[in-house]
Order: sequence, then C-alpha cells, then structure tokens
Amino acid sequence: MMTRDEALALDRADALAAFRARFALPDGVVYLDGNSLGALPKATPARLAAVIAQEWGDGLIRSWNRHGWIDLPRRVGDKIGRLIGARPGEVMVADSTSVNLFKLIAAALRLRPDRRVIVSERENFPTDLYVAQGLIELLGGRHELRLVTPNTLDAALDDEVALVLLTHVNYRSGRMHDMAAVTRRAHESGALMLWDLAHSAGALPVDLAGSDADLAVGCGYKYLNGGPGAPAFLYVAQRLQDSFRSPLTGWLGHAAPFDFDPLYRPAPGIASAIVGTPPILSLAALEIGVDLALEADMAAVRRKSLALSRLFIDLVAQDCAGLGLALASPARDEERGSQVSYAHDEGYAVMQALIARGVIGDFRQPDIIRLGLTPLYLRFVDLWNAAEILADIIATRAWDKPELKRRAKVV
Ligand SMILES: Cc1ncc(COP(=O)(O)O)c(C=O)c1O
Repeated sequence: MMTRDEALALDRADALAAFRARFALPDGVVYLDGNSLGALPKATPARLAAVIAQEWGDGLIRSWNRHGWIDLPRRVGDKIGRLIGARPGEVMVADSTSVNLFKLIAAALRLRPDRRVIVSERENFPTDLYVAQGLIELLGGRHELRLVTPNTLDAALDDEVALVLLTHVNYRSGRMHDMAAVTRRAHESGALMLWDLAHSAGALPVDLAGSDADLAVGCGYKYLNGGPGAPAFLYVAQRLQDSFRSPLTGWLGHAAPFDFDPLYRPAPGIASAIVGTPPILSLAALEIGVDLALEADMAAVRRKSLALSRLFIDLVAQDCAGLGLALASPARDEERGSQVSYAHDEGYAVMQALIARGVIGDFRQPDIIRLGLTPLYLRFVDLWNAAEILADIIATRAWDKPELKRRAKVV
C-alpha cells in the first residue's frame, strides 16, 4: 500500500503540479469540492479589478465595443468548445445550466414534432428532470418524461422518443456514460441527444463532435473555476444550427438587436440562444478559469484524476474495510468521472467531521459522501492525508456528535 513518502514522490513527478500555485487555496485545507464550486484562480481578482476600474469605470458604455464585451459569450464559448470537442461557433456562454436546459429541451422537441417522449434517468440531477417536467406542463401535457436506469435505457428507446437527456457523469455516484455509444443508440432510434456536461467540462476529455452529439449544456462554476454562480454554456451541433430555434426570444438573440424592430427575427444559429444582456464581470472571471484549463492537456488531467482516485480508493479499502463505508462510484476507471463517492448511514455527519478536520467535500441525499477530484490543484499527498483523516473519523466514530448531525441550508 502506498506510503505518504510515495505520495510525495508522485507529486514531485507530476507534470501538472505547477498548476496548483495558480490557485488561491487556504492553508490546512484539502479541497475535494471543486465539482461543486471550483477554487479561485489567483489571476481572477486582478482581472476583475481591471474590468471594474478600467472597462466599467473608465470605459463605461463604450466598453461593449471597445473591450469586446458584446462578443464575450461567444469568445468564452469557443474556448470552452476546445475543452469539449466542439467546433468554433457551436458553444455559447449564457444564463444558468437550468435555463439552458429549458432552451435546448424545447428546441429538441420542436425538431422532433412527431415524437412525444423525453427519456432521462431517474438518477439524473433534479434540475434536468424538473425543467423537462415544467416544459411538458407548459406544452399542454402532450409529452411524457420516461425515466430509466442505465440498464433499461436501451429498451426505452423506441420511435416515440424525441430526446434522450442524460448527464455524462452522474452528480452523485460519478458514474460516466460512454458518450459515443449512447449517442449512437439515441440516433438509431431517431431521437436527439442532449448531454449535461456539468461534471465533465474541464474535468476530463470530452468529444462532442466525435460522438456526434446534438446538444449539450454545462456549468461554469465547477471544473471551469468560473466562480460562484458563473454563467453556464450551451452547445448546438453545427448541422442543427439552421433549424435550431430557442424558445426564449430575447432581444440579444435577435438577428439585429440594435434595429429595435418590434418583430422577432432570430439571429442565425446559436447566436439566437442569447436571451438578454450577458453578465460581463462573471464572464470575465469565467474566462480566467477556462484559460487555465486550456493550458492543461486534458488527457493528462484525466490520467492524474484516475491516479488520484485509485490511490484514495485503495487506501480507504485497506483502512476502512468492514466499517460501514461502501464505495458508491464505479470501481472501474473507464466508468468513473472525476469524483469518488461513498455511502455511509451517517454520511452527513461523516462529511461534517471531515470538514471540521479541513477535508472539504459534500453530502448528497440519502447517504453519499462526495469527493471531487480536481487534478489542477490537488496533490497526491492531499488524497493520502484525506484518506488517513477519513479512516480515523470512521474508526473513532468522531462523526457521532449531535452538532455534526444538524443540517445546514446548503449541504
Ligand atoms: C448535472 C448538473 N446539472 C445542472 C446543475 C446545476 O444547474 P444550475 O447551474 O442551473 O444551478 C448541477 C449542479 O450541481 C448539476 O450537477
């Protein structure tokens, strides 16, 4: 089993090690929650200060042209596109992931008017399911949301299915779909495929174009390190852009917004997916995070992520065997995204005990201890330390205190 010195040796040999110094991380913390809120890039405060003082303060309204504010959603979108295998012009930054889901699910149903079923997973992130349900209600209840498990997905794909809506890496378990294979199956049934990349973009290599995916959405504040509430992105494959119609027909998605024409005419392609004025400060912060991710080789990020998770899984298997902690993520590397989850009857209290000892992850209902792995700023020794602290908490039942069981508003 790996010793602490061996973990330190892995850090010395790590080709991505230098990235850690580019992030502001508090002392004494092992941050395993970058899959919920990414860490702060050190370049972000100065960039935001400059955008605020110079571009907003001095430039005022002129900055929409002078500093290219108006093009930021597309510019940052194209950069994210390079991380997820999209071509220029296929990705736009806008709104939240939830709002982008609304736009793309609605657009997909319009593209398949003769079909009435949306297939998704019961275990999908709730917002994906809630948005689909809300849209079905809005459309008069003619459509159906068919919820499946990974094992029943194939059987659910028939000629009624308009859209398959899946999250590439499951938020709770970290289980990862084979994007190309599932997309192929969706297409064989005549359906469109929409991927939620919330736990994929910036975490591992994604090849939307190579997988022939139709539509995708994702978050800016997780592995892209764009900051709390960072704007999200959406992807529409080039071949669908002529027929793509967003249901949210705001003025900035108009073909000529500054004509102030009373009649809506969509901008060509994905440009119509912009609804209103983009959040420039948030976009400027997101661009810093995306630029950092672009400096890294995503294949190397993936290799390190798997090595980190393997180290952790092996240590926990050794130290916590028989103590009520069950691996809730796939054991096979190729089926796991960039996180490791464990089920424990007192998962919430265990997580609070971890946080009290400087190991920050999060808890997901009903019993999941969720640990996100962000190879750009995590060291092997961090995972070694975290495994040791977890083993100590489990062995000593340090979680068994009333104050650790009291639920906060955000978990
Ligand atoms: C898979 C998935 N989709 C969407 C979201 C969140 O969407 P929003 O940014 O609209 O809150 C999350 C948040 O954790 C998520 O895990």
